[in-house]
Amino acid sequence: MQIKGRVALITGSASGMGRGTAEIMAQHGVKIVINDVNQSMVDEVVKGIKEAGGEAMGVVADITKKAEVDAMFKQVVDTYERIDILVNNAGIFRDKAFLKMTEEDWDKVLDVDLKGVFLCCQGAVKYMREQAYGRIVNISSRAWLGGPGQANYSAAKAGVVGLTRTLALELGKRGITANCIPPGLIETPLWHALPEEVKERLVKGQPMGRIGSPRDIARAVMFFASDDAGYINGQTMYVCGGKSLFANIG
Ligand SMILES: NC(=O)c1ccc[n+]([C@@H]2O[C@H](COP(=O)([O-])OP(=O)(O)OC[C@H]3O[C@@H](n4cnc5c(N)ncnc54)[C@H](O)[C@@H]3O)[C@@H](O)[C@H]2O)c1
Repeated sequence: MQIKGRVALITGSASGMGRGTAEIMAQHGVKIVINDVNQSMVDEVVKGIKEAGGEAMGVVADITKKAEVDAMFKQVVDTYERIDILVNNAGIFRDKAFLKMTEEDWDKVLDVDLKGVFLCCQGAVKYMREQAYGRIVNISSRAWLGGPGQANYSAAKAGVVGLTRTLALELGKRGITANCIPPGLIETPLWHALPEEVKERLVKGQPMGRIGSPRDIARAVMFFASDDAGYINGQTMYVCGGKSLFANIG
């Protein structure tokens, strides 16, 4: 894959699939910017990448705050002189039955999962336009198709699909592509925190009899982010072992 030497920022990459994606892209010679909200977690991932022979820097920033986002991209461009790849990965959920969902639950999830993507895209595109080159990869979720107890999360992740398609249409002529990956269930810290019986039930519902790993996501992200995917724009590619073909429950 042609990606070596590119500069990539991955939001929420101190944990889970963002971290996995950062580590694999670094192994392929990408200069990685680790963004998250926790300094010590960011430092740990940056240290690991450097010890493995990769290049990385960390920026602590809350993606829901425009001033922090803009300062983050300025710091990246001041350091690496460009920003080629943006992976909008940071996300949270607060699942609740519809009538129990509070306004705060709604705002919090929409803020991080949708507004954060909007702010980061604006922050990066400013520089990508000058370079006439950019790759935006947005992490949605299979749950954008609908999920019980996930009104806020599903709405935010559906918004990410629509935003991606619009970015593709607006920015394509500037050499910038935008594509979207809705993952299915992926083995992240969250998964390990679930009770064994819940995990068993969820695995049974997977068409491939297993859930995915951060590596499964990383490889798909890396493809969209590479030069090889230069004529792929505005697409949504599920990485969910076929689960998106099922009814929307589970
Ligand atoms: N794990 C799954 O099964 C799964 C499935 C479908 C979609 N997703 C999506 O994939 C993405 C990554 O999920 P994960 O499971 O690796 O989660 P995770 O919790 O392991 O990692 C998400 C990271 O985002 C960071 N973050 C949260 N709010 C932030 C903010 N305001 N600014 C900057 N960083 C912030 C968190 O600190 C965390 O480190 C999310 O967007 C999630 O919705 C996950």
